Amino acid sequence: MDSNQTLPQIDLPRDMIHLGIGQPSNHLLPIKELEKAAAHCLSKENSFFLAYGEERGNANFRQTLAKFLTGQYPNRVDPEQLLITNGNSQALDFICTLFTKPGDTVLVEEPSYFLALRIFADRKLNLVSIPVDDNGLVTDVLRKKLETLKPSFLYTIPTYHNPASVTLPLKRRENLVEICAQNDLLVVADEVYHFLNYSDDPPPPMGNWTGTCPLISLGSFSKILAPGLRLGWMHTNVGLIKKMTKSGLIDSGGGFNPFTSEIVNSFICLGFLKVHIKHLKTVYGQRIKVFCDQLRMHLPKQAKFKIPKGGYFIWVKLPDNMDTKSLRQEARKHNVDFHQGSLFSHNKELKNYLRLAFALYDEDVLAEGARRLGKVILENLS
Ligand SMILES: Cc1ncc(COP(=O)(O)O)c(C=O)c1O
Repeated sequence: MDSNQTLPQIDLPRDMIHLGIGQPSNHLLPIKELEKAAAHCLSKENSFFLAYGEERGNANFRQTLAKFLTGQYPNRVDPEQLLITNGNSQALDFICTLFTKPGDTVLVEEPSYFLALRIFADRKLNLVSIPVDDNGLVTDVLRKKLETLKPSFLYTIPTYHNPASVTLPLKRRENLVEICAQNDLLVVADEVYHFLNYSDDPPPPMGNWTGTCPLISLGSFSKILAPGLRLGWMHTNVGLIKKMTKSGLIDSGGGFNPFTSEIVNSFICLGFLKVHIKHLKTVYGQRIKVFCDQLRMHLPKQAKFKIPKGGYFIWVKLPDNMDTKSLRQEARKHNVDFHQGSLFSHNKELKNYLRLAFALYDEDVLAEGARRLGKVILENLS
């Protein structure tokens, strides 16, 4: 089986099934619709989107995006509350530029998105972690930490967490907002998976509370359309938007990504986005079912995991004495790979966890990956 035939340009050995990679298969990228959207956009007489962009981002697109988000969220989103970005990675780096200096403390979750940890490390920030349980960030621990710390911000992934797949329930969201309002703590909520639910609707996005505490909600088209577009948004209050648009970067280059914004504006206006998200939910929902069934069948009973309700990931806990970094060496010999748990801990803990993703491969490859993984874990149990 050539398991790499549907892959984007990822350099993997032939026949390797890399269950760690969190990005969509090539055939889930809607090239035909994007072609139509680009033609629609380029047929316009006014080509303002090829000039330097407006500071907050392409105004047409902010209008359309605000309308789209208003249709999906419980509360109205105003175009004035949006700042267009090159995706959440760039948004995080931009937030570090504006709100931190090297040595500042930033609160992160344990576990957290490993590449966000890398961005914060590049900025030489002092990371302090708050645990995540089955209901997301443990807000009681946050409250306690804030008795002695004055962090620059808190970074959280509230919905369909990467890697833990957990979701912060409404009550804890309200708690979090209350704590951050009391302590004047900026919350950076990475909501990249918010639209990818496979059963019930998630609680309201953290963007709902931009008026109640200092909060920036980050959204991205990487998981709901195509990561190569490098397009996302910040949703926050008008005061913070004003502050951010005063940056030298925006002053020099204009708002981020005006041309791609106009193409995605057409994509949404032509009705493609809603249809595409619906399609993704059907495909991923089906993949989860098959993959989880196969994992249950092939993984030894000591491997514990929960069926994700959304997002991209399955977070597997192995017995305490196992180290998934060395397990990975063995796994690669069997043509299967994953991401080891320690990547997701800024202290390099969580050694007995591993992250699996189901966005990249079709069901048959996922099933074969589960079989190979089960064999490797079984052989390495002591
Ligand atoms: C939690 C989280 N944030 C951000 C990103 C990257 O987002 P973007 O492609 O918008 O930079 C990812 C991608 O895996 C992610 O899982």
